[in-house]
Amino acid sequence: MIISTKTKLLGLLGYPLGHSLSPIMHNTAFESLDLDKIYIPIEVLPENLETVVRGMAKMNFEGFNVTIPHKIEIMKYLDEIDEYAKCIGAVNTVVVHEGTLKGYNTDGMGFLKSFEESTGTKIHGKNVFILGSGGASRAISMTLALKKANKIYICNRTYERAVSLAEDINKQTGAESVAVKHEYDHMKKAIADCHVLINTTSVGMSPHIDSSPLDRELLTPSLTVCDAVYNPRKTRLLKDAEEMGCTTVEGLKMLVNQGAEAFEIWTGIKAPAELMLKAISK
Ligand code: ATR
Repeated sequence: MIISTKTKLLGLLGYPLGHSLSPIMHNTAFESLDLDKIYIPIEVLPENLETVVRGMAKMNFEGFNVTIPHKIEIMKYLDEIDEYAKCIGAVNTVVVHEGTLKGYNTDGMGFLKSFEESTGTKIHGKNVFILGSGGASRAISMTLALKKANKIYICNRTYERAVSLAEDINKQTGAESVAVKHEYDHMKKAIADCHVLINTTSVGMSPHIDSSPLDRELLTPSLTVCDAVYNPRKTRLLKDAEEMGCTTVEGLKMLVNQGAEAFEIWTGIKAPAELMLKAISK
């Protein structure tokens, strides 16, 4: 593409960015729709975040994504924060408009869209078992609570973090969320009451591709099993789930859908999600 003074900029702020898939995903989408926009990776150290963000507000940026370690810190420098992002307590997408900045969080909605597309059902009224209590768990669990999932079980290796997240969910959304001890019998009882199981921990991520966050005996065919890990695309957990007859949802779809949500917030145009998925599936 030809870059000119009219070209609008988008980007990703994080540190380190490693082999982020977002630039290829968004640039493929812009090119396919003939949009005069480019998406660039910008590595920013925490101590430089404010300077960089204030500068971007004065440049020809239309928006940007924010990733580790800036998702919470960025909130200090925004003029406005969307209700979902406020509830989650983290921002991954920012819109720049006439020098002002508004923050959103598309991680949870990205998950939800993947779930709905893969299963053809809504999360409303479902019981959900979530493994992990970190940033990804927070975004997904808060979104599910706001979308009226029936009951949300939070299970984490460090039990206190599960208790604290469950309390936050209940306080902020009025949902019914409970912490579950990371022990076989406790997990078994909670999972037996659930329609959906989601792994938000890093267990199973490359190079530890043979690890699963869960004993496969805990999986029953009526469960929909979702994994936020996308490298490898088919994790040990998802392989086990398939073998046990469960419906599965891949992490790569969640990644694409959080990107597609951000794309739609920035452009107001429906994102070419299939093409974006293809671009990062190579
Ligand atoms: P993210 O922002 O990707 O969610 P995070 O905030 O660092 O990352 O959270 C990582 C999650 O994976 C946590 O819930 C962590 O459990 P602890 O709170 O006990 O640390 C979980 N996790 C990481 N490695 C794990 C392992 N080997 N077994 C079980 N849980 C693990």
